[in-house]
Amino acid sequence: MKKKARIAIVDDEEIVRESLAGWLQMDGYEVDQASSAEAALELLKARRYNIIFLDIKMPGMDGIELLGHLQQDDPELAVVMITAFGSIDTAVLAMKRGAHDYLLKPFDPAEISVLIERIIGHQKLAEENEILKEQVQSRQRLESLVSGSAAMEKVFELILSVAETDTSVLITGETGTGKGLVAKAIHAQSPRAACPFIAVNCGAFTEHLLESELFGHEKGAFTGAVHLRKGRFELAQGGTLFLDEVGEVGMKMQIDLLKVLDEKHFYRVGGSQRIDLDFRVIAATNRNLAQAISEGSFRQDLFYRLNVIAIHVPPLRERKEDIPILAKHFLKRFARELNKPVDKISREAFDEMMLHDWPGNVRELENAIERSVVIGQGREIGATSLPFYQQEQAYVPQDRSIQEMEKAHIIEVLEDLSWNITRSAALLGIDRVTLYNRIKKYGLKKPSDQ
Ligand SMILES: Nc1ncnc2c1ncn2[C@@H]1O[C@H](COP(=O)(O)OP(=O)(O)OP(=O)(O)O)[C@@H](O)[C@H]1O
Ligand SMILES: [Mg+2]
Repeated sequence: MKKKARIAIVDDEEIVRESLAGWLQMDGYEVDQASSAEAALELLKARRYNIIFLDIKMPGMDGIELLGHLQQDDPELAVVMITAFGSIDTAVLAMKRGAHDYLLKPFDPAEISVLIERIIGHQKLAEENEILKEQVQSRQRLESLVSGSAAMEKVFELILSVAETDTSVLITGETGTGKGLVAKAIHAQSPRAACPFIAVNCGAFTEHLLESELFGHEKGAFTGAVHLRKGRFELAQGGTLFLDEVGEVGMKMQIDLLKVLDEKHFYRVGGSQRIDLDFRVIAATNRNLAQAISEGSFRQDLFYRLNVIAIHVPPLRERKEDIPILAKHFLKRFARELNKPVDKISREAFDEMMLHDWPGNVRELENAIERSVVIGQGREIGATSLPFYQQEQAYVPQDRSIQEMEKAHIIEVLEDLSWNITRSAALLGIDRVTLYNRIKKYGLKKPSDQ
C-alpha cells in the first residue's frame, strides 16, 4: 500500500461514475469503472482494489448481491455503497452485511476525500498491526532458542551471519532438533523481520494440494475452488518462505518450485496475471538429500538452489551439555503453563536424562518434561516420572551386560588353560577363592565334569 490506493467505481449511470472518478483522480488515486456488477467481477479478476464504490440499484445483479461475492473473494477490500437519499435503509442493511460505509447522492467531494483517507488509514493500521504481531512473535521465538553447547554456538554464529544476506539456506538435522526454530531465528534477525515468515510443511500435502497451497488459485480454477485463494508464495511477499520437509516434495512440484525460485515470479493456478515475488527462501529436511539425489527422488539442481548455505543442527545426544539447560527451561515453562509448583529436577532424573539416547531429540525432551510436570507430585521431578525410565531399565541392563562379559571372559581363560585354576586366577588377576566363587556364581562346569 505504499503507492496511492486503487479504487473501482461500480454504477450503471455513467454520469455518476464519471463525476466520482473525476474527483478521485484529482486526489491522485488510480480509478477503474464498471457499469454493472457482472463487469465489476471481471475487473476484480484482473487486479486488486483497496476500495470499491458500489451502487445499490443496478439492472442484473444488484449491489447487495455483489457485496456478498466481494467479501468472499477478498475480505480486506473496503466496500462503500452509493445510495440515493430515499434508500438509506438498504445502505444500512449493506453495512450490516459488511459494507464499510455509504455515500449519499449527490456527492460532496470534501466528504469523499475524508472518507477515503479514513478507510486507507484503517487498512494501513491493520497491516501494521499484523506486522507488529509478527515481530513480537519472532522476537519471542529467538529468545526461546536455548543452548549452552559449543555445537549449538556454531549454529548460532551461522544464523547471525546468514541472517544479513538474502541467500537460500538449507537446514538439516534429525527430527525434533529445532530446525523450525532455527529458520524462524534467521528470519527474525534478518532485514526482512518486519515482513511475514510463512512456513509450508511440504510433507503434509498431496502434490495437487501443495500446488494450490504454494501458488494459490483463481476462483473456479478447479472444482472446489470456490474463492480466489492467495498462495504461500504471495503471502511471503517481502518476507521469508520456509519450506519445511522439502525432501517430501514430489518430482513434478520440484520442477515448478525451481522455476519459481529462479524466475521470481509465478501465476496462480488457473490465473493469467503474472505475480512478481520478493522473498527469501529457507528449507529444512530430515532426509538425506544426497542419498535422495542418487536414488533419483530429488533433483540435484533444486538441491543446489536451496543449499547455498547449509546449517546442520546436531542431534541432542551429540550435545548432552544442552540437556540440563533445556530441561530447566522446559520445566519453568510447563510449571507456569500448567500452574504446578514444580521447580526442581532430582539428581537421579538428571542422570537418567544424561544416559538416555534421545531419538526424538529436543522435542522428546520437551514432551518428557511436560509429562513429568503433569504427573509429578510435589516440587521435584523424579527419575521414575520420565517416560523412558522403565524402558531403559529393561532395555539397557548395564549391570548384567558387564556380568555377561565377565562370565564369557572367565570361561575363555579357563578353557585356554585347561581349567588350571591357579594359572587362570593369576591371568585374570584375582585370587583362587574369588575365581571359585565366580565359577559357582555363574554355574560353570569343567567339560569333563558334564
Ligand atoms: N534450542 C532450543 N531451545 C528451546 N526449544 C527448542 C530448541 N530446539 C528445539 N526446541 C523445541 O523442540 C521442539 C522441536 O523443534 P522443531 O519443531 O524446531 O524441530 P524440527 O527439527 O523442525 O523437527 P521436525 O524435523 O520434526 O520438523 C519445538 O517445540 C521447539 O520449540
Ligand atoms: Mg520442523
